[in-house]
Amino acid sequence: MCGVVAVIGKAEASSLVIEGLKKLEYRGYDSAGIASLDKKKLQVLKSEGKLTNLVNQFDLLISKKSYNDTEIAIGHTRWATHGNVSIENAHPLTSDNKVAVVHNGIIENYASLKKTLISEGYVFSSVTDTEVIPHLFTKYIKQGNDFLESGKLVLKVIKGAFAFIAISVDFPDQLFVSRNSSPIAIGIGDKCNFIGSDAQSIAHLTKRIIYLEDGDYALVKNETLDIFDAQSNIVDRQIIHVNSDIGLINKGGYKHFMKKEMFEQPSIIPQTIGSLFNEDQSININLDKLGFTNKSSLTICAAGTSFYAALIGKYWIEQIADIPVLVDLASEYRYRKPSVFGQTSILVISQSGESLDTLMALRYGKELGLTTTAIVNVTGSTIDREADYSLHTKAGPEIAVASTKSFTSQLIVLFLIAVSLGKKFNNIDANKVNKIKQYLNMLPLALANMLKLEDQIIALSQQIKNSKSVIFLGRGYMYPLALEAALKLKEISYIHAEGFAAGEMKHGPIALIEDGLPVIMFIISDGYEDKSISNLQEAHSRGAKVIVIGDEACLKKASFAEIKIKIPDIDDEFKSLLSPILMAIPAQLLAYHVSRERGTDIDQPRNLAKSVTVE
Ligand code: F6R
Repeated sequence: MCGVVAVIGKAEASSLVIEGLKKLEYRGYDSAGIASLDKKKLQVLKSEGKLTNLVNQFDLLISKKSYNDTEIAIGHTRWATHGNVSIENAHPLTSDNKVAVVHNGIIENYASLKKTLISEGYVFSSVTDTEVIPHLFTKYIKQGNDFLESGKLVLKVIKGAFAFIAISVDFPDQLFVSRNSSPIAIGIGDKCNFIGSDAQSIAHLTKRIIYLEDGDYALVKNETLDIFDAQSNIVDRQIIHVNSDIGLINKGGYKHFMKKEMFEQPSIIPQTIGSLFNEDQSININLDKLGFTNKSSLTICAAGTSFYAALIGKYWIEQIADIPVLVDLASEYRYRKPSVFGQTSILVISQSGESLDTLMALRYGKELGLTTTAIVNVTGSTIDREADYSLHTKAGPEIAVASTKSFTSQLIVLFLIAVSLGKKFNNIDANKVNKIKQYLNMLPLALANMLKLEDQIIALSQQIKNSKSVIFLGRGYMYPLALEAALKLKEISYIHAEGFAAGEMKHGPIALIEDGLPVIMFIISDGYEDKSISNLQEAHSRGAKVIVIGDEACLKKASFAEIKIKIPDIDDEFKSLLSPILMAIPAQLLAYHVSRERGTDIDQPRNLAKSVTVE
């Protein structure tokens, strides 16, 4: 998703902005640009594709002394929404060679604003929604307003979800920044200030961060920072001290962040588990805060991989706690009239804590009178701050676009919510809870053993790397996992992939089966395996290339499968209860290795963003 960065009051501001943009690369982008003020001159540089293109251009101009790296600069990584990927549409967008703006989000009423501005003589050089902002600034500055007043007038007329930063040659010592739904962090320095889409992008410059709240805008100078709320009252926002290691992100010797993050799972999962237990071994989840003083039903909303975690959470909470759970896509929930009959709470799940759809679902839940809880990975993110109660996954920064370690960490939290509710409402006894604790202790080693399947998964990847399409099947807990496996494969390998409930095949999708189509099933002995295997048999009879990843007993039953991968031997009940966490590993490894074989951009797949801050 688009990222913005700005620096004021520090030498070589453009270079520092570029460093910040590098830290936002993981969010996904397809062009980049910077703008700075050199006395009364606006300097603008843009490039399509990777940031290295911009850096090369910048270095060349610096070496020729054709670009002056001054003390004020803004920068942007663009993830195209309105208008294709081109230099014209890349940010910063300018007006009159005097104002430059970088923007994350969408200006919903840009078409009517653009029409008016064109009738007033403004010339548009891009097809973006953003370009109305610099032209509006020019218009208000020409009317005699100062920079702050002009910014206020701009905010009065634009509608949508946005975070933008503006500079103007007429106010060379000022930045105007505004936030409405899209995140903005301001970093406080010594006689200098910084702005970024997240704290990580400016953590190399300062550890003192202020998060703007929705509707806030600010005038930022070297030594002053004036923040206003939506009603234009001057406000103080809390300064948060971010971790000193937040900016230290590296691949730790792995070729890709995704691989590093997959292999971190055995060591980071205990951190999430540990944070959810008190010293006396009781579960550290406050069910009153979760809205469960009494038994009622629960809605869970999320997007993408977090949505599939929610589906698995539903299966656990219903099985372990006998509590009805409704799972909704965040982008759907907020645009329909959900019934809250018998409900007291909504749970949202988000790795980034910034997905706009999920944030809006949380706000909508609040409007409907529900207690809001969030499972988030990024502490201090908007969803974390706005939820009544937060449960943090301790996965650490996840950089690869494809979620891996945050997914399994979300599952841990959901599993312990289920256990906690089951205990409170007497659906499980103390013995069972103790057993579950033992299983959780066994989990890191079990995950490490699952990662040892890598060589077999590489061999499998070579078999399916040229397939046009892949189908994943699963029943019970393995059904949402089949959906997740398909999402993972399609998003990074670009192979068309779909997940289906095994029993659903005969109701339609079986028509897709043709000779050689890979049909992959994750399966463990859970009491329903015979049913799943007969579904697989149906695909086999129609020519599918059947692949089974499962325990020994299941592999024996599915002897007709063309490829069989046996998972390590594990206690039956443990395996059955925690199967989605265990089986997530081969699903992730498969997506990774198919993509590696195909040579795609694994960490930053095309068209995708890590933090989806638009609708
Ligand atoms: C897939 C993936 C996405 C995210 C989705 C929600 O690997 O990462 O589908 O899960 O965009 O993001 P968060 O969890 O940040 O709200």
